[in-house]
Amino acid sequence: MLRDDELTTANILIEDSSIQKISKLPPSNRPDTKIDASRLIAIPGLIDVHVHLRDMELAHKETFETGTQAAAAGGFTTVLDMPNTKPPTINRDRLAEKISKAKGRIYSNVGFQAALVEDPAELRAMSKEGAIAFKLYLNKALETFDAADDNSLRKALDAARDARAMVTVHAEDGVAIHAIQEKSRAEGRGSVRDFLEAHKPEFEVSAVRRILELSKNHALRVHICHISTPEGVRLVRKNGIATCEATAHHLLANDRIFLKQGTRAICVPPIRREAYRRKLWSMFAKGWVDILASDHAPHTLEEKTKTNAWEAAPGLPGLETTLPVMHTQVARNAISLRRLVDATATLPAKIFGLHRKGRLAVGFDADIVLLDPKAKIKIEPSNFFSMAKYSPFAGMRCVGRAAYTIVNGSIVAEGGRIIGPAAGSIVRRTD
Ligand code: DOR
Ligand code: ZN
Ligand code: ZN
Repeated sequence: MLRDDELTTANILIEDSSIQKISKLPPSNRPDTKIDASRLIAIPGLIDVHVHLRDMELAHKETFETGTQAAAAGGFTTVLDMPNTKPPTINRDRLAEKISKAKGRIYSNVGFQAALVEDPAELRAMSKEGAIAFKLYLNKALETFDAADDNSLRKALDAARDARAMVTVHAEDGVAIHAIQEKSRAEGRGSVRDFLEAHKPEFEVSAVRRILELSKNHALRVHICHISTPEGVRLVRKNGIATCEATAHHLLANDRIFLKQGTRAICVPPIRREAYRRKLWSMFAKGWVDILASDHAPHTLEEKTKTNAWEAAPGLPGLETTLPVMHTQVARNAISLRRLVDATATLPAKIFGLHRKGRLAVGFDADIVLLDPKAKIKIEPSNFFSMAKYSPFAGMRCVGRAAYTIVNGSIVAEGGRIIGPAAGSIVRRTD
């Protein structure tokens, strides 16, 4: 197992869905199930703070079952679902409805992010219902209030502070992007290049700057989602309190992907040029980007494959590729296993306040991945559990994958197959 920075050999005893004992010597009592993990590395189950599980009226894209099976197969034992569903998670009843629909159907643990709204009573109610964080879309994706207006945004941030809630942000200047998009459409343009031209890196930087500036006097925890620009990361670090996440596709792919995959590789913020990717990677490796998240955003292939880029649904699945593609970088010594585990387990648990998760220690939940660091696999989207059978990493040869994924003490996935029950529980904000 990975302990601090070292690999050590140990027996991990699981009882009643939590870790009971970690010892050099085998436990004295005979366990019901025993896994010989001598060629594997036990790491904390991965936590993905940014996942779109869809379901409900978007069940043609993904369901609670398929999304959490994808999570478990990919080594994620806990995922946080995003509120831009149909219907969106904008009040307490919607959140309660989502929680009750997910119960009994989930193969990984699931927590919910709700939408940031202006009404403090509603925010408190959603928080009490268990919302882990509140998502703010500055790109106009989910307009619960006019976030382009500083006064409205201040009001919502005040409400979040009063609820002692954390705000997660899609930081892109939606007004500026929309203006370029409308002009482009009116002129009959719609290539991938036109799309990239509208989603400029500068529009991410200005949105990051704006939200950090506005949140300053609110003593508020702000987390920037899927950061894709080095300047954005610098602003987050300068702020001192804020945190950020990056995706594997922003860290490992560049805009040459569009030559191969066209509109299928579109997501927002988009995959950037190589110079951005390289700098973002080095910042991630140093720990300046706190968290690795997938932004698993499934769509149907039909919705992705369009001649006009403005018609293509933005979003890429990532639950089944993130661990293999990132572990391949560990195998190449581009980052340490410790950094990968920090970015996918330790820090997500700490930053999002997920108690008893993110570490292998006595008393913690038995959410464990037995990593096979030598496994050779090829990314094959047609084999995904996710309904989104496409990937920017399609065809890539990787080293390393989850040999076993254990959720609340149950073996849910083995060797890329789902073998266990829907053992996931709902994760709620508890403080
Ligand atoms: O690419 C994206 N897809 N970015 C988002 O912010 C939303 C997401 C989705 O829900 O499809
Ligand atoms: Zn987003
Ligand atoms: Zn997203």
